[in-house]
Amino acid sequence: MKLPPSIHVVDHPLVRHKLTKLRDKETSSANFRRLLREIGLLLGYDATRDLALVDADIATPLGPMRAPLLDGKKLTIVPILRAGLGLAEGLMDLVPLARVGHIGLYRDPRTLQAVEYYFKLPPDIGGRDVLVCDPMLATAHSAIAAVDRLKEAGARKLKFICILAADHGARAFAEVHPDVPVFTAAVDPTLNDHGYIVPGLGDAGDRLFGTR
Ligand code: PRP
Ligand code: URA
Repeated sequence: MKLPPSIHVVDHPLVRHKLTKLRDKETSSANFRRLLREIGLLLGYDATRDLALVDADIATPLGPMRAPLLDGKKLTIVPILRAGLGLAEGLMDLVPLARVGHIGLYRDPRTLQAVEYYFKLPPDIGGRDVLVCDPMLATAHSAIAAVDRLKEAGARKLKFICILAADHGARAFAEVHPDVPVFTAAVDPTLNDHGYIVPGLGDAGDRLFGTR
């Protein structure tokens, strides 16, 4: 069935190649970390296409010109801890002057509900473009809770960047937050009884940090 219009699957060949490497259980933590960073940059490139520009007067070595620069307050990257940190690295490569907020959430393994343990944002969040990132959108409980919290704090211009969404999670997120575009490398068909995406790539946080 067709995905909701707010869900964007980035199918660039480099993204697809790197996603396959991320999925492969033989990929080491070091390579997983590198690939997550690279794919974060590529997804971020697509997600930032519509950033506002303003013309400024500059001088090239050959003379004056008016040329475009990013307009407005600095963009803010908000990783959902822990695994979002891996994607945020790539987004920071893309926008080095970005501010960075953090949302600490973990999934209760029994209820699969998101439990918050940390929340810190830069000031004036309402005037900033915000890129929320987490590699996995499974049940979407974490993503929905993070965006709820950011909206409560005043954020208005939000996008969500992930590596893999479950079909169920993508639809659930789009239903609650249809105004927040999602950029993902793929949408997988199934969630297992433990809320893991199948075929997926396993536990993103554990693979990123080598904790299992
Ligand atoms: C993982 C992942 C997401 C969440 C996705 O985090 O990084 O935050 O699960 O699942 P959901 O869509 O069903 O909410 P986890 O809770 O394992 O925490 P971690 O990043 O600290 O490992
Ligand atoms: N969290 C993960 O890290 N992987 C999944 O498949 C689902 C949630």
